[in-house]
Amino acid sequence: MLTAVPTASAKSVLRVLICDEMNPGPLDFEGFSIEYVPNMPREEILRRLPEFDALITRSRTRVDPELLNAGPNLRVVGRGGVGVDNIDLDAASRRGILVLNAPESNNVSAAELAVTHLMAAARGLTRSDASTRTGKWDRKFLGIELKDKTLGIVGLGRIGSIVATRAQGLRMKVVAYDPYIGDANFARLEVQRASSLAELLTSVDFLTVHTPLTEETSAMIGRDELAMLRPGAIVVNAARGGIVDEAALAEALHSGHLFAAGIDVFAEEPPAKDHPLLTAPNLGITAHLGANTFEAQERVGAEIVDRVLAALRGDVSRGA
Ligand code: NAD
Ligand code: MLT
Repeated sequence: MLTAVPTASAKSVLRVLICDEMNPGPLDFEGFSIEYVPNMPREEILRRLPEFDALITRSRTRVDPELLNAGPNLRVVGRGGVGVDNIDLDAASRRGILVLNAPESNNVSAAELAVTHLMAAARGLTRSDASTRTGKWDRKFLGIELKDKTLGIVGLGRIGSIVATRAQGLRMKVVAYDPYIGDANFARLEVQRASSLAELLTSVDFLTVHTPLTEETSAMIGRDELAMLRPGAIVVNAARGGIVDEAALAEALHSGHLFAAGIDVFAEEPPAKDHPLLTAPNLGITAHLGANTFEAQERVGAEIVDRVLAALRGDVSRGA
């Protein structure tokens, strides 16, 4: 992702701050000083940012105008992961700051977590786990087989495509809605194309979303859309909080319209203690762990550090 081309710096040592938790790998590169402070408090980032030429984050750090303006020397912001919705791209462009992400590094892990949520939801895994821990031995839980069911995918990009192949491996039929992807990709993946979101919602047993969070996708799956799903459907959101409207999802779980759901992401993270989803039944929750595998974090750290250093050296062809 390229928002602006940085100008070359005359400084002999360029300084990079990594302020979120990741596995950045070796930090010893000639001509660079890289400081890794996992989970650095925002106040501390604002205070220290004037010292740095580049900042590397994950989703935790909100890179807004206040933060960008706190870094007068900032030339590059690297996002250790895919989604750049935590970065104000317009504000970065206005400041001439290059924004880079690591779009290929964690998509297998994110896709595998979505499939994990789907399988856990279908078998009542979290319900049985919670019940057994209370001392009960409750064998009443009945699940749903995935074989021969239809999975609906919104967003057939990198992660959506991997989810499709995994679901096909489980002998599911896959239908997807993605107006920005050509027919050739659908054909290559042997995924049936839904021509509208409504067509997808009314023809699937399970739904999983894999779009970025944008104005268009925010609350894209709301009350009306959930109502279009057949009773007993399952919904998974391991993409971004807010793509599936959270209050509407809680209602659909409480009413029993949905069989179950799996959520890895919230609109505000961490969610407030009284968030309606935290008491919704038949919901499996993980704490934004889609990219949290040893393998993905190793790849993400190496890729984003490499891209940011390349950009600081002036090699935007490798970074963008
Ligand atoms: P991608 O860009 O490869 O794919 C996104 C797809 O969404 C694209 O094909 C695009 O055409 C489609 N899309 C966009 N707007 C749409 C709309 N309105 N309707 C239907 N389709 C639409 O991105 P990706 O690598 O597959 O990642 C998708 C998202 O997953 C990321 O933006 C990120 O927010 C999220 N993610 C979450 C985790 C996690 O830890 N839970 C990890 C990685 C990525
Ligand atoms: C991403 O968009 O890549 C995810 O948010 C992963 C993460 O940084 O945890």
